[in-house]
Amino acid sequence: MVSDDKIERLKKLREESKKGGGEKRIQKQHEKGKLTARERIDLLLDKNSFEEIDAFVTHRSSAFGLEKQLIPGDGVVTGYGKIKGRPVYLFSQDFTVFGGSLSETHAEKICKVMDLAMKNGVPVIGLNDSGGARIQEGVSSLGGYAEVFWRNSMASGVVPQISAVMGPCAGGAVYSPALTDFVFMVRNTSYMFVTGPNVVKTVTHEEVTSEELGGASAHSTKSGVAHFAEENDAICITKIRDLIDYIPQNCEERVPVQPSKQPDKSKEAKLEEIVPDNPNKPYDIKEVIGGVMDEGSFFEVHELYADNIVVGFARLDGRTVGIVANQPLSLAGVLDIDASIKGARFVRFCDAFNIPLVVFEDVPGFLPGTDQEWGGIIKHGAKLLYAFCEATVPKMTVITRKAYGGAYDVMNSKHIRADYNVAWPTAEIAVMGTKGAVEIIFRKEITQADDPGKKQQELENRYNSEFANPYRAASRGFIDDIILPSETRQKLIRAFELCENKVDHLPKKKHDNLPL
Ligand code: HXC
Repeated sequence: MVSDDKIERLKKLREESKKGGGEKRIQKQHEKGKLTARERIDLLLDKNSFEEIDAFVTHRSSAFGLEKQLIPGDGVVTGYGKIKGRPVYLFSQDFTVFGGSLSETHAEKICKVMDLAMKNGVPVIGLNDSGGARIQEGVSSLGGYAEVFWRNSMASGVVPQISAVMGPCAGGAVYSPALTDFVFMVRNTSYMFVTGPNVVKTVTHEEVTSEELGGASAHSTKSGVAHFAEENDAICITKIRDLIDYIPQNCEERVPVQPSKQPDKSKEAKLEEIVPDNPNKPYDIKEVIGGVMDEGSFFEVHELYADNIVVGFARLDGRTVGIVANQPLSLAGVLDIDASIKGARFVRFCDAFNIPLVVFEDVPGFLPGTDQEWGGIIKHGAKLLYAFCEATVPKMTVITRKAYGGAYDVMNSKHIRADYNVAWPTAEIAVMGTKGAVEIIFRKEITQADDPGKKQQELENRYNSEFANPYRAASRGFIDDIILPSETRQKLIRAFELCENKVDHLPKKKHDNLPL
């Protein structure tokens, strides 16, 4: 029988475990503009859906008098709950307990939820807010981190892994978020770096603040480490809930389906005239996405990084698709190192989790220059090519305008096994743009002409009518159809219907060796 004193004991322990590091430290957390580990969980999960596990775990260390500071939970709240009705596992580091630092037992708690997530095919969300390795535990803490890293690697491509960095995250600790699929950061209250401002100053004599070095802004615009930079904890958590809504629970599941919505009417109406007659004039590819996909469904990923390529999730007739689109508004939509890496990582996520791909293509080629060549555009561009080549999900391409050179091949061309490739009548599928092409192949004719300017114009017109259109590609079957912009949505929906049960296998191998 559960006697009253046993009930009391349990109640007391439960209460105690909820207090974390105590009122003072909670107040300090709030003063910094941060929520506590439990407040974050409350916002993240559907009401009353949280089930905590390991609330009574305490550390086993006795160094530096730690045996006198036993706080139930040991600085991390772990468990499971639901987001919009679908289960997730999570851990939320509690900065009020030993600065959220990771001890051996703290790591064991994280590992436990990760193992359960793998076994049960459920996404895992980590809310990080930690001073790093528990200094008093030394190598036991480092071992704990490595156990987490190993599980992050094993879980990659099996269940979606999402990290939110909502406080400090320094040293080797950064590698757990880095191994996960999506990294969220909060402006002004979070930072990530391998070495902090003091070490940087000693080694390179640069003076930077933590925020400048590794804040949300730096990582969402410069390094690309963070996919999302949000204003505060609450907005960040709402965004995580939105993301979860688009993605399958694991690599065996299909995409979630929601009621279909028509596209935004005004954007749809503009599709026919959106591509300017002048090939050098830009337009916003996001307007095209809005005119084709279900209204309000576009969820952009990595918005602030390499904006010459746009990636994100959307719904087409209620089903999640992954969008990869060149953005003519930025650098004319050219592919450079950052855009290639951004695109490749997104394509691989979609392929790992059965999310069909839609590519909107308007690409003048790869960005020239020593920066790009010495920075390794060859190997980085190869990543995007590789990602599209190995993707076995249904994959479609809509060429809106330019599809030039190697970039034509890379951007999900028919030749690398895309399922349905179409072009708008405004498409120009060629080795290169008109001006450059004419200057190379007709150099002699132009320089020897009585009026070189007139000759060049004449030859450009000829090249335009022969090459700068989609008809040559269509005559070879390299695109399946030439369609009106207004037909795009319906054609894609029908093509995806047919690919619903697509089966495509990669050759037997231990694993690939994608160019890194
Ligand atoms: C144990 C820690 C701790 C840690 C903080 N605390 N970090 N305890 N191990 N790593 C404790 C503090 O003693 C303090 O306890 C409480 O947490 C809050 O810390 P404060 O310093 O008061 O907070 P704040 O001023 O906000 O500064 C936060 C901080 C700072 C910037 C994170 O605490 C700090 O620099 N900590 C050390 C960071 C670090 O060097 N970690 C190791 C990194 S290397 P009380 O009782 O006073 O509240 C690493 C390697 C991982 O992590 C390797 C993986 C392979």
